Amino acid sequence: MLARHPWVYKSDVLNGPQTPGLYPVQSSKGVLALALYNPDSEITVRAFGFAAGEPLPVLLENLRKALWRRKAAIQANPQGGYRLVHAEGDLVPALVLDYYAGHGVLQVGSAALEPLTGALLEVIQAEIPLQSLLAKNDQKSRGLEGLALEVKPLYGQVPQTVYVQEGDIRYRVDLREGQKTGAFIDQRDNRMRLREFRGKTALDVFSYHGSFALHLAPNFERVIAVDSSAAALERATQNASSNKFSDIQTQEANAFEFLRAEEKRRAQYDLIVLDPPALAKNKRDLEKAYAAYKELNLRAMKLLPVGGILATASCSHHLSESLFYQMLYEAAADAHRTVHIIEKRTQGWDHPVLLNVPETYYLKFALLEVM
Ligand SMILES: C[S@@+](CC[C@H](N)C(=O)[O-])C[C@H]1O[C@@H](n2cnc3c(N)ncnc32)[C@H](O)[C@@H]1O
Repeated sequence: MLARHPWVYKSDVLNGPQTPGLYPVQSSKGVLALALYNPDSEITVRAFGFAAGEPLPVLLENLRKALWRRKAAIQANPQGGYRLVHAEGDLVPALVLDYYAGHGVLQVGSAALEPLTGALLEVIQAEIPLQSLLAKNDQKSRGLEGLALEVKPLYGQVPQTVYVQEGDIRYRVDLREGQKTGAFIDQRDNRMRLREFRGKTALDVFSYHGSFALHLAPNFERVIAVDSSAAALERATQNASSNKFSDIQTQEANAFEFLRAEEKRRAQYDLIVLDPPALAKNKRDLEKAYAAYKELNLRAMKLLPVGGILATASCSHHLSESLFYQMLYEAAADAHRTVHIIEKRTQGWDHPVLLNVPETYYLKFALLEVM
């Protein structure tokens, strides 16, 4: 904690109160921090301040500052999608708040924070007034905190879907049924970056509701969006037609099997996007996940002609940046391709990384060209 990492695990807590709440963290030398505390949670202490003081006003001030950081972007594009609060990355631990065209979706991941929801809402409404707010508290990790898994409106009329403007395209978000809080906003700027590429055929693998495909459609003759979720692909089709794109096809498939079959029939694409879910959910999974990432990238590299582009991501924090590029190097070597790194990118600016908290840096995104 002296190095300003905010977490203390249960096994390292000498003694503490019986009930969850906001407390000062004491060492033999005095107050070290102000923190969310839950004696039943594996991550027992989650600090949000590193000086003595009244905990609640400090936490609410951190929330206010997080909202201020996004205000200009929202004023410039009120119909857009942004992360308003990125938990530890904004020094508001265990709180995620996403903004979709005026509507908010909130996720609370700590028993110490849950009773403060009303106070948090007052600050949110004062800084960035929302038309509605949905608590999408259905993450499994809430069970470990002793919290109920539930999805419920906190105020306003929560619509089933909203349309979000992202550059030149609009996409439909299903607030209640969609994955995460409804969309993967962390890839927003990477999706818009792909607008700069041109070609005949493009493949968006792990496409969700057609997110990258929608940005590729204007500059490619044919785009195929592949995902294992039928519900996401149904929205991809709706998104394609509401943007008046007739050249996006969807395919419901396991991406690993799909790429294997494409390699077998010697298919070629001018651009391929790979944006898998976190394949390494914990450290124990890492070796298996590394092999899976490598398989995906190796197969994709084989499907690209000289000059072909691979836009490839990993959102596993456990796969570090150096391991990610090592994995890509090994994939290129085994595919016998010479590959040039056009650009190394990461999560959007509204998902801030705290240097002291390596866990906040999770998204690696490489733009590669086969030479
Ligand atoms: C990180 S999200 C993709 C986000 C998307 N690219 C975007 O920008 O919105 C991962 C996606 O992979 C899909 N998925 C998970 N396992 C899969 C598999 N084995 N084959 C194909 N799709 C899979 C999920 O349904 C989800 O849509």
